[in-house]
Amino acid sequence: MTTRTGHARPKVSVIGAGMVGGAVAQYLALRDYADIVLVDIVEGLPQGKALDLAETAPVLGYDSRLSGANDYAATAGSDIVVITSGIARKPGMSRDDLLRTNMGIVRSVTEQVVAQSPDAILIVVSNPLDAMCHVAFAAAGLPRERVIGMAGVLDSARFRAFIAEEADVSVEDVSAMVLGGHGDTMVPISRYSTVAGVPITQILEPGVVKALEDRTANGGAEIVSLLKTGSAYQAPGASVVEMIDAILLDKRRVLPCSVHLEGEYGIDGLFVGVPVKLGQGGVRQIIELSLTDDESSALKKSAGAVQDLVAAMDRLATEATAGS
Ligand code: APR
Repeated sequence: MTTRTGHARPKVSVIGAGMVGGAVAQYLALRDYADIVLVDIVEGLPQGKALDLAETAPVLGYDSRLSGANDYAATAGSDIVVITSGIARKPGMSRDDLLRTNMGIVRSVTEQVVAQSPDAILIVVSNPLDAMCHVAFAAAGLPRERVIGMAGVLDSARFRAFIAEEADVSVEDVSAMVLGGHGDTMVPISRYSTVAGVPITQILEPGVVKALEDRTANGGAEIVSLLKTGSAYQAPGASVVEMIDAILLDKRRVLPCSVHLEGEYGIDGLFVGVPVKLGQGGVRQIIELSLTDDESSALKKSAGAVQDLVAAMDRLATEATAGS
C-alpha cells in the first residue's frame, strides 16, 4: 500500500494559528484542493489545530493534508502565505504599543516566510490591516501584485448581510462595495451596492441606507462588544478563503482588497482598499470606479487615516533606532 504523500496540491501556509488562522484552515480544508500548514509561536497550538482538522477529514470527506509547526521550514515552497499573527490590544495598552508590537511581529514573520517561499503570494490579515500591509510589503520586497490585504471582502460581506436582512432577500442576490482603509473611516459605496443589479439607493430610504453603511463601518466593533473576550473570526476566515480560491483557481474575481496604490484613485504609495481582479499571480488589475465628489473625498479621508498610521510607524521606527 502506498502512503498519501507526494500529492501535487497547492500549498497554503497560515501564520498565526489563533482564531482567524484556525478558521482559514478549516474553511480551506473543506474546499479540498490545497494542503495547509499552520505555524505559531505557541508550541502545540498549530500541531493541535492541524491534527483536529485532519481527524475531521474522514467525517466531512476532504483530502487536504494538514500539519502544524513552530518553525518555517515546513512552509517552504508555499503558493500562498496568510499572515494572521499578532496580538490584540490589551487593557492599558496604548495604540502605539499595539502598533509597535504588531509591526515587529509582521516584519519578522514576513522575512521568515519569504526566505522559505520566495514565489508566494502574501495575504495579510493582522491589524491594523492597511498599516500591516505596509510592513509586509517593505519586509517582503515582492512586487505589489503579491502582497494583498484582506479587509474589503469582510467589510462588504458584512454590508451584504445587513442589506439582505433589511431588504428581505437572499444574500446571494446582494452585492456590495466597500472602499478605503479597514477602520471606521471605511467607505461603503451604496451606489455600487445592489440587489439583483438594482442599486440599494433606489430600493431603500436614504436614512436606512445610511444606517446600514454606519453599521458596516462599525461591524468589527459590534462583534467585539458582543463577544467581549475576542473579535470576529468566522467571517474573516471565510473571506480569506474566498481570496485564496480566486487566486489558486485563477477565477479572476473582482473583490475589494487592500493593495499598494501607485497613482490609482489619486493616491500614491499607500495600501488602501479598492476593487481588484484576483487570479493567478495575485492582483491582475486594479479597477478604478468612477466616484462622486463626496465618495472621492471620503476615500481620500480614509487614505489619510492610513497615512497617519504609516507616519506613526515611521516615528516609532526612528525612536527605536535612536534608543538603540
Ligand atoms: N509568530 C507566529 N505567530 C504569532 C507570533 C509570531 N511572532 N506572534 C503572535 N502569534 C500568534 C499568537 O500566538 C496567536 O495564536 O498569532 C495568533 C493570533 O491569534 P489570536 O490571538 O486568536 O487572534 P485572531 O483573532 O486570530 O486575530 C488575528 O487578525 O483580524 C486580525 O485583528 C486581528 O490582528 C488580529 C489577527
